[in-house]
Amino acid sequence: MSETQFTPRVFSGIQPSGGLTLGNYLGAIKRFVDMQGDEFETVYCMVDLHAITARFIDPDTLRHNTRELCAGFIAAGIDPQQSILFNQSQVPEHAQLAWIFNCVARMGWMQRMTQFKDKAGKNAQNQSLGLFAYPALMAADILIYHATHVPVGEDQKQHVELTRDIAIKFNHDFGVDFFPVTEPVIEGAATRVMSLRDGSKKMSKSDASDMSRINMTDDADAIAAKIRKARTDPEPLPSELDGLDDRPEARNLVNIYAALAETTPEAVITDHGGQQFSVFKPALADLAVAKLAPISTEMSRLMDDPGEIDRILAHGAEQARAITAPILKRTYEIVGMVGA
Ligand code: AMP
Ligand code: TRP
Repeated sequence: MSETQFTPRVFSGIQPSGGLTLGNYLGAIKRFVDMQGDEFETVYCMVDLHAITARFIDPDTLRHNTRELCAGFIAAGIDPQQSILFNQSQVPEHAQLAWIFNCVARMGWMQRMTQFKDKAGKNAQNQSLGLFAYPALMAADILIYHATHVPVGEDQKQHVELTRDIAIKFNHDFGVDFFPVTEPVIEGAATRVMSLRDGSKKMSKSDASDMSRINMTDDADAIAAKIRKARTDPEPLPSELDGLDDRPEARNLVNIYAALAETTPEAVITDHGGQQFSVFKPALADLAVAKLAPISTEMSRLMDDPGEIDRILAHGAEQARAITAPILKRTYEIVGMVGA
């Protein structure tokens, strides 16, 4: 595989396409926070170019969502002094490298992407070209930093695998060892947080039912009410983890508890096995409120000063460009663009 030693660098992104959910927090942001430190350089992005692929959202709403997402990152513990924090559109090298990757990726590869099939449904012919090309832009997001590690939820695994395929094909076609073959980091108890109303569906900001998800802006009462009303079965929690195998709703609540308490599902079952949901749900609600309410309070405090958020994003974009500009230039040289 790769001979080159790449700087250990983490990149990940979240779309400012709506409010943040508990799924985004546990599957992504909380893990972004954990990866800050001496081991990696950390780069986190509000992917506004991705947020317009399904449809254009109202421009004021897009601006609001981008700032709110930035506030969410910071409130959850991303430190702008330690991590680079910016919005994708302000670092043009993402879109420039994406064009090159549109010419590397094959139609057949893109047609296998399950997220496109899920989002497009029966209406594929009427989707934007951007939605189809979205995974090539995601590959560019990652590889324009030569990122070595990408923390994501389970649903993004196939896109990171495509990123690896693009890096390998580019390196092979041009006889270089230029792009790293990036590792997805899909770890922890909550890599796939499910809907509170239906244990077979992912918790999502686009679900029609607000009761299906916990939003990072929900207050303590809303969080507690949603957990109390979460769908479950009538059995108590089992005394062994195996007992959750055919009980997706119960499994989901145990996973959420484990991720919030920073422990394992096994440990949750050791402590709570045998409990009725009438006992376990209030314990989970207390834990969720204790962990999430301070984040939502801090988010709204940060949102009172959007000028400061804009300054953080502008500074992050400048730091990002110091990394991306030379990598794009070298890519253009490799491809044979005069003037690069
Ligand atoms: P998105 O909101 O689709 O931009 O997703 C941003 C990040 O959150 C990605 O890493 C997703 O994999 C992760 N994510 C979104 N929903 C969930 C969920 N229900 N469970 C776990 N991770 C999730
Ligand atoms: N596609 C990701 C999602 O919807 C968001 C994303 C865009 C991303 N670019 C990325 C995630 C690069 C990780 C790395 O969740």
